[in-house]
Amino acid sequence: MRRHLTFLMFIICGFLITTCDSHSQTIPLSKEGKACIECHKELSPSFVKEWQLSSHAAKGVDCYTCHKAEKTDPDAMEHNGFTIAILVTPKDCGRCHAKEVLEMTNSHHAMAGDILNSLDNYLGEVLGGPEAVAVGCLQCHGAKVKVLPGGKLDINSWPNTGIGRINPDGSKGSCSACHTRHRFSRAQAREPQTCGKCHLGPDHPQIEVYQESKHGILYEANKAQLNMEKKSWIVGKDYSAAPTCATCHMSATPNQPVTHDVGTRISWTLRPAISKKLENAEKRRDDMKDVCSSCHSSPFVDGFYNQFDNLVVFYNEKFARPAMGMRQDLIDAGKLTPADFDDKLDWIYYELWHHEGRRARHGAAMSGPDYAWWHGIYEVAKKFYSEFLPEVKQVAGPELYAMLVKKYLEQDVRHEWYLKGMSKEQLEKIRKYYEERYGK
Ligand code: HEC
Ligand code: HEC
Ligand code: HEC
Ligand code: HEC
Ligand code: HEC
Ligand code: HEC
Ligand code: HEC
Ligand code: HEC
Repeated sequence: MRRHLTFLMFIICGFLITTCDSHSQTIPLSKEGKACIECHKELSPSFVKEWQLSSHAAKGVDCYTCHKAEKTDPDAMEHNGFTIAILVTPKDCGRCHAKEVLEMTNSHHAMAGDILNSLDNYLGEVLGGPEAVAVGCLQCHGAKVKVLPGGKLDINSWPNTGIGRINPDGSKGSCSACHTRHRFSRAQAREPQTCGKCHLGPDHPQIEVYQESKHGILYEANKAQLNMEKKSWIVGKDYSAAPTCATCHMSATPNQPVTHDVGTRISWTLRPAISKKLENAEKRRDDMKDVCSSCHSSPFVDGFYNQFDNLVVFYNEKFARPAMGMRQDLIDAGKLTPADFDDKLDWIYYELWHHEGRRARHGAAMSGPDYAWWHGIYEVAKKFYSEFLPEVKQVAGPELYAMLVKKYLEQDVRHEWYLKGMSKEQLEKIRKYYEERYGK
């Protein structure tokens, strides 16, 4: 009897699964959607194919579902008998993915388009020019996309998939910054290269740091075993060989769900001239440690954080504060203009914190020793002692310089070597070291 029942269940389930399966491949498309495909499979066959391969196609989310618009929408466009919009903004995706959109909207990523009044923007717009900003800054940060009468987009602000794009409907960000159209895949977004479009270069080399770290090496060696295509992607459960950027900053652990707010697990902000701890720093750090704990013991992770914190505080105190203080005093004394980038010292100072000072901190944050030292603190020290201080001396004149040295350098023994030179004993030690190592 029991066996019969099981058999019957087996038949019924089999039937259900088969129908569900075939059903999922043939979820009926809207008649509008079919019309889009009819034309567009000739016009733009690749993105129709990419859409066909997506989870969206399998669930009947078609062209029209995403692109449809109300006539009153700011970016509505009449298009072959349909009212559509070219942009499919977080607000549109949010009809089905409310959680992801809310998290992203609350994150720094959504704020990235708001750079108009930043120092970097002055650099970009005035010292460079708007043409450069359009193909540079805004492709990472996001443009304010303008709509022309009739719904076409202003070609000066489009194409653009910057992370904090300011959309005509008021929403912020662009989901295709990471989920490239028209596949919109999780797997692709989990790849480090996705983040590396923006997180690279002289002022925030996260992808380079990652590539030289053991984590990046393990990723390269074990890519094929990371099960990136899986829906569930819990570290320690669905994969174990290496963490990617997403693993640490976004993806699930046995104790935490996926988050689209990339800032929730970082405790410092390493962007400003002087790094600051964020609000709720301990909680944020615990959430990150929870990620590490799948692959490392807690003393190991505490050791890592100890070294990282030490580097940040060391950089702040030895270099960033004195440099900032001296420059400000020169401005206050009328020796430098308050405007940025019109004095040589402004450029030296800017690169000191914005380029090499950040590189050092990012190298320490993500275990890239070459960035922490050679591209980092080595460059900071070289610039500080061989360019910044000589320029301060030049600008200040002997009297004010002597005062600044007293105020900012003398009380810190770490600058003694510069003020007094290397001691005889130190010179002798170094000579001996090489003699013993290599002979005469
Ligand atoms: C009668 C054919 C036809 C139909 C039906 C059609 N399109 Fe188009 N679509 C076009 C053509 C032609 C272009 C211009 C393509 C080009 O220049 O490469 C275009 C362009 C577009 C663009 C880009 C517009 C721009 O200015 O960048 C979008 C978005 C678009 N179509 C979406 C849709 C959607 C969504 C549907 C279904 C609701 C649809 N289309 C139905 C023919 C069609
Ligand atoms: C899941 C939602 C979604 C679906 C489904 C979808 N699109 Fe798109 N489409 C987008 C997004 C997002 C963009 C990029 C615009 C942006 O950044 O806001 C885009 C851009 C476009 C563009 C203009 C960009 C370009 O590269 O020329 C066209 C044309 C287009 N889609 C047509 C289609 C057609 C045809 C289909 C059906 C085969 C389709 N879309 C299905 C979301 C979607
Ligand atoms: C009409 C509802 C709807 C809209 C609008 C929509 N999606 Fe989806 N999305 C779905 C469904 C349904 C799935 C499949 C879920 C599943 O398979 O569990 C999905 C899956 C996804 C996935 C996971 C895909 C994978 O295979 O890895 C991503 C990423 C995604 N959507 C992003 C977007 C983005 C970005 C937009 C806007 C440009 C968008 N979606 C608009 C319904 C929608
Ligand atoms: C290659 C992509 C890219 C380009 C080009 C780019 N940025 Fe950025 N920018 C970033 C990233 C990524 C960050 C965050 C770095 C971090 O957190 O370490 C950032 C950080 C910033 C910040 C700091 C934000 C804060 O919260 O403190 C400002 C301001 C800024 N950029 C403005 C600009 C301007 C203006 C330009 C052009 C003159 C520009 N950026 C060019 C990717 C870029
Ligand atoms: C900074 C890159 C990034 C941006 C921007 C981004 N996503 Fe994602 N998204 C990811 C990653 C990475 C995953 C996979 C997380 C994991 O490992 O499971 C993901 C997963 C998803 C999923 C699958 C959800 C799940 O829990 O399995 C959906 C749906 C989704 N994103 C929608 C969106 C929407 C909608 C937007 C725009 C508001 C968006 N994403 C913007 C990186 C991004
Ligand atoms: C299209 C460009 C772009 C892409 C792609 C991108 N980011 Fe960002 N990211 C930025 C910019 C710009 C900022 C700085 C935003 C600001 O503060 O104004 C930023 C900031 C961050 C921050 C700091 C957040 C905070 O709260 O301070 C983290 C962490 C981060 N990104 C991680 C990632 C990860 C992980 C990925 C890939 C899954 C990714 N980003 C993809 C541009 C990008
Ligand atoms: C092994 C985990 C791990 C991986 C992998 C990882 N990160 Fe990080 N990331 C961290 C930690 C830890 C910090 C510092 C956290 C803190 O402040 O407490 C950090 C900090 C950051 C910041 C903040 C920088 C700032 O200026 O404030 C950004 C942006 C970032 N990571 C992006 C990335 C990107 C992009 C990748 C991949 C190329 C990546 N991370 C890979 C762990 C990781
Ligand atoms: C998916 C597993 C995984 C995750 C998650 C992970 N790591 Fe690792 N990590 C490794 C492996 C494996 C090594 C290589 C160990 C060795 O040297 O043999 C490593 C190496 C390291 C190293 C040594 C670097 C070196 O060059 O010797 C540090 C430091 C480190 N991880 C810190 C962290 C921190 C901090 C986190 C969390 C923010 C983290 N890891 C998350 C797997 C992981």
